[in-house]
Amino acid sequence: MITARKTFLPFALPLISERAVEEVAAVLRSGWVTSGPKVREFEEEFARYTGAEYALALNSATAGLHLALEAIGLCSEDAVFVPAVTFTATAETVCYFGAEPILTDVDPIFNLMTESTLREAIRRECVLSKGNLVHKKTGKTVRAIMPVHLAGAVCEMDALNSIAKEYHLYVIEDSAHAFPAAYKGRRIGTLGDFTVFSFYATKGITTGEGGMVTTRHPHFAERIKLMRLHGINRETFDRPGWYYEVVSPGFKYNMSDIAAAIGVVQLSEAEELWKRRILISEIYRSEFSDLPFLHLPLPANDGDHSWHLFRVEVDRVRGKIDRDILCSELKKRNIGCSLHFIPLYEHPFYQRFGYDKKHYPNTDAMFQRTLSLPLFPGMTDGDIEDVVAAVRDVFSGL
Ligand SMILES: Cc1ncc(COP(=O)(O)O)c(C=O)c1O
Repeated sequence: MITARKTFLPFALPLISERAVEEVAAVLRSGWVTSGPKVREFEEEFARYTGAEYALALNSATAGLHLALEAIGLCSEDAVFVPAVTFTATAETVCYFGAEPILTDVDPIFNLMTESTLREAIRRECVLSKGNLVHKKTGKTVRAIMPVHLAGAVCEMDALNSIAKEYHLYVIEDSAHAFPAAYKGRRIGTLGDFTVFSFYATKGITTGEGGMVTTRHPHFAERIKLMRLHGINRETFDRPGWYYEVVSPGFKYNMSDIAAAIGVVQLSEAEELWKRRILISEIYRSEFSDLPFLHLPLPANDGDHSWHLFRVEVDRVRGKIDRDILCSELKKRNIGCSLHFIPLYEHPFYQRFGYDKKHYPNTDAMFQRTLSLPLFPGMTDGDIEDVVAAVRDVFSGL
């Protein structure tokens, strides 16, 4: 007989403290609810925490990826390297410009873009013309790479940065999962030309919806600042009078002070939230270490993992266990799970780019085997015990 939890445990939930609720109430009472002093405070604190020179708050990471690509002047004659294992936002923003997302495979352990998967994609897809990489199939010029720190494991940034330098490419890190991970002792946020963070509900810190771009380049910071609010050359909060000028067709991507109020508090609690994630991942790794057919995520890749996700891999043993069986058995026990990610080339939209599955063997293997277990700082000790008991129960007797 199956023993199920009384209530369903989702795979992720935000943890918002009473202090954040009070700060939001204070903003609501202040009369200034759109981008203003709280956004500025959040940006300053975030820049201090990450060591970044510039931090620009936005209403999503997707907006950040879009504005980073806009800042480098991406156009329809360009191409960008994106790992096949990511959320659509990474590649869709390349498509906004009519540019070509060229997919790289990922490594078999962390499922990240690596030196070897990037070099392999360069060899397969590109020719060198006047020092620039040109996509053989479309003739488009490669302008950037977008490494994704999947689940919170950081890509080998030294190697990726050096390939980028070799071929004059910008590095736009998709760090939606990676706050507050670190690489070789450096907090994420200063490694590439741009680092893009997400504050979506389930992320390391949240503002409900929100994002941040960090960069060391003053001209890119200026451009993002301009383009996040309609291309208007003065921020509303700073404007002394009624006069302003529209100097570019910008976007409506600014963060509100309501969201920033949550962000400031979440940032001050980030270490605590992160510690809880680390603890849960350690409990899982110890409790599941003896289970057959279950492969556990490694703690880090040259740094500190953010433990945004706990992605396991399941062997396929016909009629006994595989990823889909584990998922449905957990559901029967009232435990939620998720999958990160369906490879981009599997989606109908991306099929127009003609990706050939045989170039992505590690991505394909990942897709057959991966599953994300519940991991969020608000999990009680009882929740953790329930997940451990349910997973162990599914594997018992195998
Ligand atoms: C890898 C990755 N990149 C980008 C995003 C987009 O983040 P946002 O929802 O803040 O736009 C997500 C969202 O989950 C993501 O998982």
